[in-house]
Amino acid sequence: MSSVLTIRGGVPLTGRVHVRGAKNLVPKAMVAALLGNEPSVLRNVPEIKDVEVVTSLLQLHGVTVEKDPVSGDLTLDPTDAKTASSTAIDAHAGDSRIPILLCGPLIHAIGEAFIPDLGGCKIGDRPIDFHLDVLRQFGAVVEKRPGGIHISAPKGLHGAKISLPYPSVGATEQVLLSATRAEGITELSGAATEPEIVDLIAVLQKMGAIISVQTDRTIRIEGVRDLGGYNHRALADRNESASWASAALVTRGDIFVEGASQRDMMTFLNTFRKVGGGMDIGDDGIRFYHRGGKLSPLVLETDVHPGFMTDWQQPLVVALTQAEGVSIVHETVYENRFGFTDALIRMGASIQVHRECLGSVPCRFGQRNFRHSAVISGPMQLKGTDIDVPDLRGGFSHLIAALAATGTSRVTGIDIINRGYERFTEKLAGLGADFDITAAK
Ligand code: EPU
Repeated sequence: MSSVLTIRGGVPLTGRVHVRGAKNLVPKAMVAALLGNEPSVLRNVPEIKDVEVVTSLLQLHGVTVEKDPVSGDLTLDPTDAKTASSTAIDAHAGDSRIPILLCGPLIHAIGEAFIPDLGGCKIGDRPIDFHLDVLRQFGAVVEKRPGGIHISAPKGLHGAKISLPYPSVGATEQVLLSATRAEGITELSGAATEPEIVDLIAVLQKMGAIISVQTDRTIRIEGVRDLGGYNHRALADRNESASWASAALVTRGDIFVEGASQRDMMTFLNTFRKVGGGMDIGDDGIRFYHRGGKLSPLVLETDVHPGFMTDWQQPLVVALTQAEGVSIVHETVYENRFGFTDALIRMGASIQVHRECLGSVPCRFGQRNFRHSAVISGPMQLKGTDIDVPDLRGGFSHLIAALAATGTSRVTGIDIINRGYERFTEKLAGLGADFDITAAK
């Protein structure tokens, strides 16, 4: 049953949180295990919904997934992989976007794939055209069937020269997971190079793949016939880390984020410092805190790595409602990632969302009626209100706004937040937040 959070705001969050493996890597590394001919071990695995969904999908396909009761490490054994019943797979329709990445590994393992209709956050259209184009270029045959898509490759997958129209994270992963065991060489230009992709490449290299990343967003993969298993510790979740950093700023708090990695967050750290946030960077994590003075406004554009990550945008916008002056944020990755500002406006924030590209570079969404630029004026005192969580990052942003607000907020739909924030209510309680959880009526 879904729960309701009743938050009494105005308490600075202080203390320590531990961030584990990245939501945007762990489920994909689990999928990669299917490419091997022996078991793999994945460490630093968070307890989040996408891990549950992929565990279940892999099990339906005959992969044994065992979780160590103490460490939470996963051992994934693909040696008895088999075709799953489409009715069983169908039960996962709408749960996540990860299933589309099973295509290549399933074709290599069992010759075909049935992928249920996808889920994921509603932050734009989120099409899968790049994925399907890529698969066709590898020689796959894609058929739409009731409840999902069926993919086969009568002649096996073969290497291809592929160019992505946009450096999509998922489509780059689709290429990596399909090409490593395809026959011949694949050259992918216009690839995404996010740290989670580099970590997936590290996983595949441990399994025996031959992959090189060149300086110009080109990735070259020499297909190999067989892959072994891996033993890998997932990189830390830089999006969860940045979310807690913004929570410290918004609530005038002080949070040590154990596991946060400077190397993967450099662009965020520069921005956090420009806004006026304090930080101490250590070997085992980063302390983020409010320095007591005023926060500064800024002009910001989200972008693919190494730019400012779109997933950092929503929590940071809440911090910008507390900055002294006018900030401008141009979202260039998703066309519809400002819906969450409606609730902030009801809480007293001053935010206007525009269709124009308010950034130095016009993006794909300019002149196309997408409200993808925001002008935020501050500082404005936020007031508690009723909120229904719209998506993962927007939902976390609403939480931190409610935690900083005067008065009480009632937040529904919080299960969405479990998709990317492990045990977030326990973490909030540990940081001193004042809230109750009750079952929704
Ligand atoms: N796109 C297409 N066609 C496609 C695929 C993508 O037009 O076939 C477009 C998307 O609509 C979007 C852009 O390309 O406008 C970028 O999408 P991308 O494929 O890079 O995103 P993704 O792989 O679906 C992952 C993360 C997102 C994160 C993005 C960008 C996972 C499970 N999700 O999504 O994470 O925002 O990359 O870095 O890895 C989140 O964590 O809250 C989240 C949404």
